[in-house]
Amino acid sequence: MPAAAISGGTTGIGRATAELLHARGYQVAVTGQNPGSLARARSELPDDVLVVRSDGRVLCDTDALMPAVPAHFGSLDPLSLNAGIFRPAPVAEVTEASFDAHADPNFKGQCFTLEKALPLMNDGGSIVLTVGIGSLRGTPGATVRAASRGALLAMLPSLALGLAPRRIRVNAMSPGATDTPLLDKLGVTESGRDAMRSEIPFERFESSQEVAEAVAFLASDAAGYLTGQDITVAGGSGLGA
Ligand SMILES: NC(=O)c1ccc[n+]([C@@H]2O[C@H](COP(=O)([O-])OP(=O)(O)OC[C@H]3O[C@@H](n4cnc5c(N)ncnc54)[C@H](OP(=O)(O)O)[C@@H]3O)[C@@H](O)[C@H]2O)c1
Repeated sequence: MPAAAISGGTTGIGRATAELLHARGYQVAVTGQNPGSLARARSELPDDVLVVRSDGRVLCDTDALMPAVPAHFGSLDPLSLNAGIFRPAPVAEVTEASFDAHADPNFKGQCFTLEKALPLMNDGGSIVLTVGIGSLRGTPGATVRAASRGALLAMLPSLALGLAPRRIRVNAMSPGATDTPLLDKLGVTESGRDAMRSEIPFERFESSQEVAEAVAFLASDAAGYLTGQDITVAGGSGLGA
């Protein structure tokens, strides 16, 4: 079976994607950088899932990561570029350090992971970028985060066209508010969660598993003629005026 590589696959959406693809017969490799979440992933994911410490901000980590996946499994496809962070800050308080803290994992790291993966992927493979509806909607405090993720959307048409001769499909998947450890990292309280839910037409957060289903579809042969598209999975969020 093909071997899927999922950046940021130790928790949340990436972790659910790893579990779903593994259940569907893929060999799976996931990355993360936090020692605690790496250890939990190693103990909780199936034994044959390769859990690799690789910091998406650090180019030599990416250099080492990509050959490690086909060396372990013999192949690399699909590639899910999912690792990312969000630390809200009003635009007036953005510093060079907080700018880089978003740009490095959310954009630069994804670019170079993709670049390093390309020579290792067979023609006809699939690349899925996790973006998020927040990249095209206004949210105070999310300026740099939106730009750092939205940059992936800006790359999408050029990537899809550039890789079409190899029949490598490149698509984005944009979740709305998803119930993952990210909400805890943001310090969202119970009343904050209630307020967020009330803004969602489906009146609930989406689950990581629901997002993972979209990634699995984009990775599969069922999406074999789909490239350069951003699939929104958001329970109706973002549709209103
Ligand atoms: N949850 C939402 O509502 C939502 C909505 C739209 C878009 N998204 C996007 O979806 C993606 C996954 O988010 P999530 O909600 O599943 O959040 P999460 O649970 O916080 O997962 C983030 C993953 O990215 C990894 N990661 C972060 N920085 C990294 C780095 N420098 N190098 C390698 N791995 C790194 C984390 O690993 P460590 O723990 O090791 O850092 C973790 O595995 C993110 O890009 C996020 O922006 C989420």
